[in-house]
Amino acid sequence: MTARILSGKEIAEAIKQEVAEEVKDLAEKHGIRPGLVVVRVGEDAASAVYVGSKVKTSAELGMFSEQHHLPESISHEELLKLVKELNSRPEVDGILVQLPLPKQIDEREILEAIDPEKDVDGFHPINVGKLSQGQKSLEPCTPAGIIEILKRSNINIAGEHAVIIGRSNIVGKPMAQLLLRENATVTICHSRTRNLAEIAAQADILVAAIGKAGFVRAGLIKEGASVIDVGMNSVSDVELAKELFGADELEKRLNTIAKRGFTLVGDVSPKDAKERAANFTPVPGGVGLLTVAMLMKNTVEAAKMRRK
Ligand code: GUN
Repeated sequence: MTARILSGKEIAEAIKQEVAEEVKDLAEKHGIRPGLVVVRVGEDAASAVYVGSKVKTSAELGMFSEQHHLPESISHEELLKLVKELNSRPEVDGILVQLPLPKQIDEREILEAIDPEKDVDGFHPINVGKLSQGQKSLEPCTPAGIIEILKRSNINIAGEHAVIIGRSNIVGKPMAQLLLRENATVTICHSRTRNLAEIAAQADILVAAIGKAGFVRAGLIKEGASVIDVGMNSVSDVELAKELFGADELEKRLNTIAKRGFTLVGDVSPKDAKERAANFTPVPGGVGLLTVAMLMKNTVEAAKMRRK
């Protein structure tokens, strides 16, 4: 089998187009301009890339967009004060504090300080609780984007066995809730799961979100499954690259390692997924693009809900 590659680019573009039209509509008919503020702390390299993309995209779609870049040494109290200021500013519809945060900061308290109506990440306990009860809420962007990929690619979810590898608050747990809402039978596997390979190999829909380069190999993929790769890992080891990539892209990947010192790899072996799966999201160019698109959608959603 040669898997169909699910292009995150096309689906993300379609969603962004829909959001841009809504932004225009809100401006023309209601004089509203949705606003997103992104807060980044310290010098985490991946966070810099993600935040840059979020700020740039919101501006492109016609929203009010603001970025705060704070020093690694900022105190918990100072960050909390900024969040409270953003809560009180009426033109700010969405507040996103990029994770991870430095050690001196109590991440939980910061996320809980964000006004739930402005919580475009969907990480506040109020939104997490609403999601788990099937109430309308702001939903975490990456899992919501994965549902969009599946639906817009006409992949059936209801009645299917969906296996999620990883139980994070950002992806694994909310992914389970969203798949459950779509009537999948959901299993979550994690580092303490005893027979993980056996369970994964039963999945019609397999979501890998553990942060281990190429962890999912042929033995974990059921023939004909839809494999969603949420990982984003750097690989500099040439031998590992030779195991993970097929002839179709190995040369290009080795060139990238030679030139930049690393290549981006998800949690799934692309070679094995292409051989065994029916559908597969590539890294880069898959789920990551949807995360940004869904954040834009959430910001417009927040603007509409807040300003009625
Ligand atoms: N770090 C990694 N993914 C995310 C995300 O979706 N939102 C935030 N705020 N931080 C992240």
